[in-house]
Amino acid sequence: MLERKITNSNVLVTGAAGFIGSSLVEDLLQHDNKVVALDNLSTGFERNVNEFKDHPNYQFINGDIRDLESCKLAVKGAQYVLHQAALGSVPRSIKDPITTNEVNVNGFLNMLVASRDEGVQRFVYATSSSVYGDEKRLPKVEAKIGKPLSPYAVSKGVNEQYARVFGDLYGLENIGLRYFNVFGARQDPDGAYAAAIPKFVRHFIDHESPTIHGDGTQSRDFTYIDNVIQANHIAALSTNPVALNETYNVAYGESTNLDELVEVLK
Ligand SMILES: NC(=O)c1ccc[n+]([C@@H]2O[C@H](COP(=O)([O-])OP(=O)(O)OC[C@H]3O[C@@H](n4cnc5c(N)ncnc54)[C@H](O)[C@@H]3O)[C@@H](O)[C@H]2O)c1
Repeated sequence: MLERKITNSNVLVTGAAGFIGSSLVEDLLQHDNKVVALDNLSTGFERNVNEFKDHPNYQFINGDIRDLESCKLAVKGAQYVLHQAALGSVPRSIKDPITTNEVNVNGFLNMLVASRDEGVQRFVYATSSSVYGDEKRLPKVEAKIGKPLSPYAVSKGVNEQYARVFGDLYGLENIGLRYFNVFGARQDPDGAYAAAIPKFVRHFIDHESPTIHGDGTQSRDFTYIDNVIQANHIAALSTNPVALNETYNVAYGESTNLDELVEVLK
């Protein structure tokens, strides 16, 4: 296993009050980094980052990536940017494609511009397995994506294209991580757009039966948060020029259907 870790560096984490962002912040602080956390608390929570607030190497900025000035302020002095801020959820994007686009595309572009202008060493960003769209083949291979099936998938696909162009045109070194259904601590179990694992766990804690939409045979690759954290470190530190300005799957590598998932959680 690769154990490369960002240490003693200045790191900006966007979406830091969210599930993945707050896990990154925790890990980065444990490795003696100075962390700036940017979040507008729209889907994330103060409770996810409260434990860091008195840490001498931690600074929280309540700001919106749709505002270029906030991005510029947050990125000042950063060597690495781990960009997680976005509006997640396919159904949310179907209901409100405009806001998803404003945050996930315009906000992403702002972060690229701010990172380019600041001369950051590496821009690592969250993209998604949703870019595979209607591509049926398994395992998913990075170069073979299908037709996007939602505004969310379009937004992540556009992110990947913008990042490549910023790498080619401006030399902004970047790596996109295509996360597959991440799970772990601090994941929000509530609300209409909650992910399956925290939602099901909440149901079991409340002695309720989870509701499965569909026949239970639909399967997903579920990825543990620690693997996502590790992938961010490796992507930030890779010295292989061929690896740059590309996207990589971050997945467990096996499918689990929802019936199996419920059995395991029980
Ligand atoms: N969780 C998964 O399974 C999964 C899978 C694929 C991709 N991703 C991607 O990973 C990233 C993190 O996802 P997550 O599960 O932690 O979601 P999350 O909702 O818990 O975290 C996202 C964070 O971004 C913040 N945010 C949203 N809009 C913002 C804005 N305009 N300005 C500043 N901050 C803003 C939210 O407040 C939240 O704290 C996202 O880019 C998401 O699309 C997640």
